[in-house]
Amino acid sequence: MVDDRLAEERQAKETLTVLVEGGVDADRFDAGILLLRDAVLEHARHEERSEFPLLREHVPAERLRTLATALKAAEAVAPARPHPGTESAKANLAAGPVLAVADRVRDAIRSAAG
Ligand SMILES: [Fe+2]
Repeated sequence: MVDDRLAEERQAKETLTVLVEGGVDADRFDAGILLLRDAVLEHARHEERSEFPLLREHVPAERLRTLATALKAAEAVAPARPHPGTESAKANLAAGPVLAVADRVRDAIRSAAG
């Protein structure tokens, strides 16, 4: 189940990378963003219907609250752009903050130049 969700997340990041690189004026942007929307919604349904009930059944509520706090902290330093290949927890921990800083520096430079 985890492998399937990670594969979906990787696919979404790859699609998002193509869409970002092509820009909103690209011929296939509109169709691509709709496909991405549908894929992300389906991914979320899988998580909500399959993963979350199992977590609630097998993980103590206090542990889930701790994980939620850790997730919010991780989101605060998450990369601002898709980076396919960083779906695993280890890769996210290792590369996430570095990519986040790189993304934000790139955005700041573009903003200053624009
Ligand atoms: Fe997900």
